Amino acid sequence: MLPVHLDRGRPEPLPAQLAAAVRALVTDGTLTTGDRLPSSRALAADLGVARAVVEQAYDQLLAEAWVETRRGSGTFVASGEALPVAPAPPRPASRDPRYVRLDAGTPWIDPRHLAGWRRAWREVSVARPPRGYPDPRGGPELREALAERLARTRGLTVAPDEILVTGGTTDGLRQLLGVLDPGPVLVEDPGYRAAVETVRAAGRRVADHPATAPVTGLDGCVAAYVTPAHQHPLGRVMPAADRLALLGAARSAGAVVLEDDYDSEFRYDVAPVPALAALDRSRVAYLGTAAKSVSPGLRLGWLVAPPHLHELLVRRRTTTHDTPPWATQRALLTLLRDGWVDKVVRTARRVYAERAPRVAAALGPHATLAGPLAGMYSTWLTSADAATAARDAARAAGFDLPLLAQYCRTADLSGLVVGFGGVTDDELDRALDVLARSLAAD
Ligand SMILES: Cc1ncc(COP(=O)(O)O)c(C=O)c1O
Repeated sequence: MLPVHLDRGRPEPLPAQLAAAVRALVTDGTLTTGDRLPSSRALAADLGVARAVVEQAYDQLLAEAWVETRRGSGTFVASGEALPVAPAPPRPASRDPRYVRLDAGTPWIDPRHLAGWRRAWREVSVARPPRGYPDPRGGPELREALAERLARTRGLTVAPDEILVTGGTTDGLRQLLGVLDPGPVLVEDPGYRAAVETVRAAGRRVADHPATAPVTGLDGCVAAYVTPAHQHPLGRVMPAADRLALLGAARSAGAVVLEDDYDSEFRYDVAPVPALAALDRSRVAYLGTAAKSVSPGLRLGWLVAPPHLHELLVRRRTTTHDTPPWATQRALLTLLRDGWVDKVVRTARRVYAERAPRVAAALGPHATLAGPLAGMYSTWLTSADAATAARDAARAAGFDLPLLAQYCRTADLSGLVVGFGGVTDDELDRALDVLARSLAAD
């Protein structure tokens, strides 16, 4: 008989319980293709239920193709092709837990700021539940707080109604791709891998453009995705002449510049480089994120699009309802209002200002820095072999970090991208020691 237990105390009807139990026996391998199930009469007697219970369960399993009947000989577990075996859950590109990651995208959040973080979420928990669907642009008060911050920190004067709250840079990019005319998108090479994937996932071709060359023509592209304040991952600031050339190229092509302003607040030598959008709001869609100043896990960002696109974005959101959840928006509002974000950014900037030169001192003698020291990572040019050897040595010591080649599509650059935000001082020192020793030996 089958190792099955039915429970009359449970709310599911007995036939549903029995069908679920048989499915489980097939998926865990207790029953395999061709195994004969007991007759309905025998199983009903064994389980102490009416025969109709078993018949109903078998009918359901037959309809779902878990079992098949052979005339005159009974009910069998269906053959492999017919089996609707649940697919193995796709495993996310996992972060190998064996390694401490020197990740370019993970910021430092000082544990001393946890009390303010908790206060924000307590405020969310006692707030009145929101009524109905939210404003498709994002909460009005949050947009006000963001407008204030953009003016103060990025020299960008915008009305709160011109801001769209997003689920981060990549979501903002996805939203924009949904309203742009059909056509390819220019993306810096090397460049932000999530942007490349997002453009491709939207069914558009990615036009590779060397990350440090000026864009002088857009060659059929409807948009150009760039990181002018801190080229990702080379770190270069886009020179003023290149900014003007890019805007000129966008104007003549009728294209839009998608400005990813992900970590510009983390300059420690000079004031943040002004946003490109401040030069021409009619051509530039500005993408900001809370991933660096608060946490990538919050999944919040903001988008200021040229007016004609903004209208399309809002109209689209009115029907797609993919505005970020109220609770996270509400928490960010408190974090901004309390001055928490400013405080966290100031502390992190001090930490990076101290760590970046430490990285430079360790790696500088053996590799070439690709851009000015800024943000929470630095990129080092080496031979491909030296980069791989250093990455492998780091792994052997329990650290992982990306190769510059992983950000390249056609660009022929090699080296290491060394993130120093998401680790402790001690971890950073140990990792740098291993990397420096490996690079020196090469
Ligand atoms: C270049 C760049 N842009 C944007 C982001 C943040 O994207 P999101 O807001 O979707 O997390 C990152 C994070 O690592 C980044 O490296």
